[in-house]
Amino acid sequence: MRSTILVTGGAGFIGSHTTVALQEAGYRVVILDNLCNSKPDVLDRIAQITGIKPEFVEGDVRNDRGLDRLFETHAIAAVMHFAGLKAVGESTGQPLRYYDNNVSGSVHLLQAMDQASIKTLVFSSSATVYGDPQKLPLAEDHPRSATNPYGHSKLMVEDILEDLYRATPGWRIARLRYFNPVGAHPSGLIGESPQGVPNNLMPYIAQVAAGRHPRLKVFGNDYDTPDGTGVRDYIHVMDLAHGHVAALKYCEHAAQELLTVNLGTGRGYSVLEMIRAFEHASQKSIAYDIVARRPGDIGACWADTRLAAEKLGWHADKGIAEMCNDAWRWENVPT
Ligand code: NAD
Ligand code: WQD
Repeated sequence: MRSTILVTGGAGFIGSHTTVALQEAGYRVVILDNLCNSKPDVLDRIAQITGIKPEFVEGDVRNDRGLDRLFETHAIAAVMHFAGLKAVGESTGQPLRYYDNNVSGSVHLLQAMDQASIKTLVFSSSATVYGDPQKLPLAEDHPRSATNPYGHSKLMVEDILEDLYRATPGWRIARLRYFNPVGAHPSGLIGESPQGVPNNLMPYIAQVAAGRHPRLKVFGNDYDTPDGTGVRDYIHVMDLAHGHVAALKYCEHAAQELLTVNLGTGRGYSVLEMIRAFEHASQKSIAYDIVARRPGDIGACWADTRLAAEKLGWHADKGIAEMCNDAWRWENVPT
């Protein structure tokens, strides 16, 4: 058995899939989650997949006492920090809630880690830090910017991590910039469970296919893309999960490290291509209307994946057919 990893936000979408990948790679996992956007039944579902129920601590990353106790009572070797809020639109209306959870939450976690001499961290950043792309594919040295509090919170934490790395010897930090994570575990046991009406394309398409919404709104068909609709680099969540394990292993072998890498496929698909792929996977027709652009959206974005391949020896394997098949299987699981 390898070492024990604390996974903050491990009951959520990406954290739960990464927990599966960590357990399958032989790590022991302790999840810390306040369940503000997830449910505890994910723990039994993870156990059904891997045969091991991860230890669960219900709590908040902003709770110093709770963190200290957790580090005192568990031999944690490294932390994967997923806990945070992620709805771009909501962040514009509730900036303080986003800065408190995402920025302050990260600072509290880092302080507790520092105190406990745990200096290995994998952090969930986002391709949102690239703002409106000046050049595609997006390489890690592309200038960063943000137009909403969610994006700012990711930029700020990236900068805090850099300052910490420069100030204190021995930190091993991976800042992973995810593109558009979609899909679900192929077992159909875990997946993405947005509360209310989904903001993101893939869960919305899945809910239209399932008859939960009559039609999809396609936000704009006048972008400078082959069919005019927005193009994104969708990545299967299990590929993303394996990217985290690769980043952890990379950090484990370094004396100190500040690694910043994209996790994407390097290939973009348009909204209309995603609709067609999902129709094929679900054998349902997806009704849609073209409507105005969504404020703040960019036209196209996909990753330069060379650094991830070079540093981590990792690349995404799964294509959009698997992403759609797995998302559809998950959509049909009784909850
Ligand atoms: P998610 O909402 O499914 O998971 C986040 C988990 O963190 C939830 O289980 C939630 O209950 C928990 N949480 C939130 N605030 C907490 C706090 N203060 N203390 C303890 N637990 C807390 O989201 P996700 O899609 O799995 O995203 C995980 C991370 O990846 C987030 O940091 C997000 O910003 C980042 N990210 C997500 C995407 C995406 O499209 N899903 C893209 C790029 C980056
Ligand atoms: C994808 C495409 C939309 C919904 C967001 C965050 C980003 C990151 C990932 C966290 C776009 C179009 C969407 C719909 C549509 N998250 N669309 N109808 O905006 O690329 O990225 O999630 O870090 O920060 O901004 O993802 O899935 O919302 O949109 O036409 O109902 O689908 O315009 O072209 P996005 P998305």
